[in-house]
Amino acid sequence: MADLLMGQVLSFAGDAFAGGTARLDEALVIEGGRILARGGARALRAAYPEARVTDYGQDLISAGFIDAHVHYPQTAIIASWGKRLIDWLNTYTFPEEMRFADPAYASEVAERYFDLALAHGTTSMCSYSTIHPASVDAFFAGARARGMRAWTGKTCMDRNAPPGLCDTAQSAYDDSKALLEKWHGVERLSYVITPRFSPTSTPEQLAALGGLWREYPDCLMQTHLSEQVDEIAWVKELFPQSRDYLDTYEAQGLLREGAVYGHAIHLTPRERARLEEAGASLVHCPTSNTFIGSGLFDMGLAARLRVGLATDTGGGSSFSMLRTMAAAYEVAQLRGQALHPSQLWWLATCGSARALRAEGKVGNIASGMEADLVVVNLKSTAAIEQATRRAEDIWEQVFPTIMLGDDRAIRAVWVGGIAR
Ligand code: GUN
Ligand code: ZN
Repeated sequence: MADLLMGQVLSFAGDAFAGGTARLDEALVIEGGRILARGGARALRAAYPEARVTDYGQDLISAGFIDAHVHYPQTAIIASWGKRLIDWLNTYTFPEEMRFADPAYASEVAERYFDLALAHGTTSMCSYSTIHPASVDAFFAGARARGMRAWTGKTCMDRNAPPGLCDTAQSAYDDSKALLEKWHGVERLSYVITPRFSPTSTPEQLAALGGLWREYPDCLMQTHLSEQVDEIAWVKELFPQSRDYLDTYEAQGLLREGAVYGHAIHLTPRERARLEEAGASLVHCPTSNTFIGSGLFDMGLAARLRVGLATDTGGGSSFSMLRTMAAAYEVAQLRGQALHPSQLWWLATCGSARALRAEGKVGNIASGMEADLVVVNLKSTAAIEQATRRAEDIWEQVFPTIMLGDDRAIRAVWVGGIAR
């Protein structure tokens, strides 16, 4: 049976950083997990007289948010005080990730994470797991049970991490391959080859994963790049032969289309040029970059590369893509780049989808797209409501929710055409 949803239906035509435009409709129709049509409410009601109608009034109906870089195993250590990247990893992250040796704990946190993500309007995500294969199983089982389009991979590390969190070049290859064969392409799930970052992988491990990627070229490969200045200096010591941080990946077959690099803040001119030439994706994680003191991402890159938006939970300080859009706005302000609300919303939906090379499937409302939706109350708190009273267009209605909104603004989510 078809569903007809009424509200302020937001979609995008084209890239918001290259002259693309937003469009508003009054309704959309979904059936069999896909969007059939969007348009005027009257016309769609006449065309689909049998459809079950849900009227969301003046609420905004958008493609669900897509979190393009998150660490679900760090759910419980979000908001841990007082450290910068390397200390933060050693003090909070690695001890927590050790707990995922217990598959029951991995399942418990995966369930908790998915419930939190959906409550915040996030319908798809690309997550890191831990080094434990069972952490990948736990994530995919949780996403599958909810019918979600989701990505993850076993995080690979063979040095500079506690012994309980290290694999080897060979076991990283073997375990990743087995998980990929088990999960990649099952329903809406995709496996991502996942070396954590160069400081925790030997060149041999990076090479083994580069080899695996050559065997499965349609997979994504995710890792971290140039997040903090101290980290970059460490990479220089660990890889004296490399021209720069990106070269540590490039030299091992880990740079091409489908490579998804988190952070990418402190890039050299050569790195920028190579990333662009290779058609790689970058993921901006603004709450993380301010929370762990990493730096200010250059949003000028969005005109030249696929850029997605992400929480980076638990380095990031929020599960909310609304809060993440607000942080992206603030970071851009500090660089003298005023992002329009339509660009912020585009990043959290279309931009993240494109960074994950899934723009034909999710991230926008158009006929044939998968029906993952978020319904947003644009007056969810007294503070927001009073700030919208004189709004003259949709973006003046939306911006207070971007800046002040949280999970209270999320009226509903639809995943694969089903209300959750
Ligand atoms: N670099 C390597 N691992 C991590 C991580 O877990 N979080 C963040 N923010 N950066 C990293
Ligand atoms: Zn990360």
